[in-house]
Amino acid sequence: HIHPVILSGGVGSRLWPMSRALYPKQLLPLAEQEPMLTATVRRTCGPEFAAPILVCNEAHRFIIAEQLRLQGVKGASIILEPIGRNTAPAVAVAALAVLAKDPDGLMLVMPSDHVIGKLEAFHQAIGLAAQAAAGGKLVTFGITPTAPETGYGYIRAGEASAQWPGVHAVERFVEKPDRKTAEGFLADGGYSWNAGIFLFSAKELLQELTALAPEIVTAVQAAWTGSAEDLDFHRLDKQAFAAAPSLSVDVAVMERTQKAAVVPVDMAWNDVGAWPALWEISEKDPHGNVLLGDVMAVDVKGSYVRSERGPLTAVVGLDDVVVVATDDAILVTSKDRAQGVKAVVEALEAQG
Ligand code: GDD
Ligand code: MG
Repeated sequence: HIHPVILSGGVGSRLWPMSRALYPKQLLPLAEQEPMLTATVRRTCGPEFAAPILVCNEAHRFIIAEQLRLQGVKGASIILEPIGRNTAPAVAVAALAVLAKDPDGLMLVMPSDHVIGKLEAFHQAIGLAAQAAAGGKLVTFGITPTAPETGYGYIRAGEASAQWPGVHAVERFVEKPDRKTAEGFLADGGYSWNAGIFLFSAKELLQELTALAPEIVTAVQAAWTGSAEDLDFHRLDKQAFAAAPSLSVDVAVMERTQKAAVVPVDMAWNDVGAWPALWEISEKDPHGNVLLGDVMAVDVKGSYVRSERGPLTAVVGLDDVVVVATDDAILVTSKDRAQGVKAVVEALEAQG
């Protein structure tokens, strides 16, 4: 059985003002009709998958439980983090949860905030990866890069495996390189983006983590042992979990393990990081605009204008802009500067 593990700890600050700390992007129907979190869960429903395990911020527990209920998802385990410690501790907790039910279980770790356009290609890649994962590999999924993005991990694939078709060894894994390095990787041509989706056996992951970052395993084991059942939730022990170093699974494990493998896949993947990504994947009018809600656009091209719960919003004579209005905040930026929205959220947080 493959146990889907969905990580929902991020706040999605580059999608402010719709994404908020108490209602982050993965819980919003930003890209599709349904929230990205439940869309993720429903991508891995089927006979080859066990019930999903969600690891999330405890502040979101009721929203998440309600969204799962509305989508008819049954039997999910919801593990609550008292504080966020990045993805390595979250994955380690999920591995302990899998081991408790299924000692040889494989886990498919997925971010809760991605869009995958080609579901069949995704499932086919999972099938290929599962063979290698059962053989002890920590499998990543490689996406053909289209720009020297600095927010992704880069994978250099090595030899094709003779044992597992479609699977390659990983020669190098570099998490979030600087711009120049990323440009070099693109020019090299042998690199793919890490999709941030992983398939491995729970046992193998814990073994690697014990070798590479033992403090995480010690802290997480204590937090899991000390966890309490609260309604339908597993609440981790706060003090124990807080002792886990805050590291991503990419940095703690994937950059350093000898057991990494990659399955290249073309699945119309998008990590919906910021507003331009939403413009990219949305249907556009003949002027290349995405207009949603109570909006008007006159002499506007290539823009994203959205006001579903905000006031009537009109844009005149601008190209390639993002304007997003909500009931209490309005964002105006150009598409090529939209990554900077993060700075607004940081400034707001600093103000308290
Ligand atoms: N439970 C939990 N706890 N989830 C978390 C936490 C946490 O403390 N921190 C992040 N997450 C969740 C996020 O909500 C997201 O769904 C997923 O884990 C990945 O975290 P991000 O913070 O979005 O990572 P990233 O986008 O910077 O980088 C990762 O994804 C890229 C692809 O989108 C890496 O895996 C990169 O290598 C990869 O290219
Ligand atoms: Mg991300």
